[in-house]
Amino acid sequence: MDLFVHGGRVVSPRGVSESDILVRDGRIAAIGPGLTAPAGVEVLDASGKLVFPGLIDTQVHFREPGLEHKEDLASGSLAAVAGGVTTFFEMPNTKPNTTTPELLADKLARAKGRCWADHAFFLGASEDNAEQLGEWESLPGCSGIKVFMGSSTGSLLVEDDPTLERVLRHGKRRVPVHSEDEPRLRERYATVEKGAPYRVHPDVRDVEAAVKSTKRLFALAEKTGHPVHLLHVSTAEELDLARASTLGELLTLEATPNHLFLHAPDCYDEHGSLAQMNPPVREKRHQEALRAALLDGTIDVIGSDHAPHTLEEKQQPYPDAPSGIPGVQTILPLLLTAVRDGWLPIERIPLLTAEGPARIYGIARKGRLEPDYDADFVIVDPDVTEPLPVAWLRSKTGFSPFVGTKLAGWPETTVLRGTVVYHRHATVGDPRGKPVTFV
Ligand code: DOR
Repeated sequence: MDLFVHGGRVVSPRGVSESDILVRDGRIAAIGPGLTAPAGVEVLDASGKLVFPGLIDTQVHFREPGLEHKEDLASGSLAAVAGGVTTFFEMPNTKPNTTTPELLADKLARAKGRCWADHAFFLGASEDNAEQLGEWESLPGCSGIKVFMGSSTGSLLVEDDPTLERVLRHGKRRVPVHSEDEPRLRERYATVEKGAPYRVHPDVRDVEAAVKSTKRLFALAEKTGHPVHLLHVSTAEELDLARASTLGELLTLEATPNHLFLHAPDCYDEHGSLAQMNPPVREKRHQEALRAALLDGTIDVIGSDHAPHTLEEKQQPYPDAPSGIPGVQTILPLLLTAVRDGWLPIERIPLLTAEGPARIYGIARKGRLEPDYDADFVIVDPDVTEPLPVAWLRSKTGFSPFVGTKLAGWPETTVLRGTVVYHRHATVGDPRGKPVTFV
């Protein structure tokens, strides 16, 4: 079925323009002002609405297999399309960890017919598989190799430089890294008192833990010449290191909405462990530095690090409450509040959420609204300005620290490869997500 979208204001990194979109066979056939709808096509009226390229969220945890009580591929991908995310890359800290081709194939089989969005899965690096990863990372449906330098949820860990160097030397693709120094974290956790207020979290997993690890990572990227992607950067100091580094395209950075829209200690006082994630949300000076880094190009992509846990699990005392915040559905709505509040130009949104991720991971035919690209887009109603109600959230968790945030627009219709999959808080048709391909 072909599709014609007319009257919308299409947002691209190059500006906002009133454009019609003609979709044929799931791809964009034409885009521009004043197009005419061919006879027989389905027509969507986007007058008064904004149209963004479908978001590509390259860091989500959808918990399947093994932890489906928190989330699964169906519920996580539903939350994705409800938020305008049409492609996701899923992390390997499931149960079991995704560390072999067989476990990758299992995830792809589980995703078939149940995922609302297109997708790929990361393999997790460990001491045992470092040599084989380079061969496995080009398997269909694999987005690459994920490294945890510091432990977070689950047991995946590459804590020492020699193992990390082995991983970097054997692979070809960009390696996304959770960068916190494990020995430093061990030292810090040894001092924590059970039941301490959640606001101690950024002191426990402190700036030094992040900086120490990131210095090690940059040195190894330099030594091996291997491209790395610093996930969920959380400190002003790491941003300065990135700016000063000579790694060029070997280094890319991700920021999460949590670090951009929350700050310590207020977020812990207001939301308790619901604002607890790794690396932690930190004080305002870090938040301000991250916002500046979105504008000056230091940050390449925004990823949600959607990391669901049940409310019951989150209500445990510190430090037993697991770290992680759901967020795949709220990336775009939050960025729209930043536009309204005047600190983010709207053109940055498609750069950071679509074109950037497609560029740094080499995703084929996605990330732009241009002829021959997949017709993945989201139509936003800018007139939705009420406080975010919990009833609109589609993750199994049923909570978000952003519930109650006064909105500045909301995704109304999400289109995946030319087919409407989500419209006004409801799914349309059956899940049709497929593995993405890479250039
Ligand atoms: O807070 C976090 N939670 N950070 C991570 O890196 C992992 C994630 C999870 O899987 O829960």
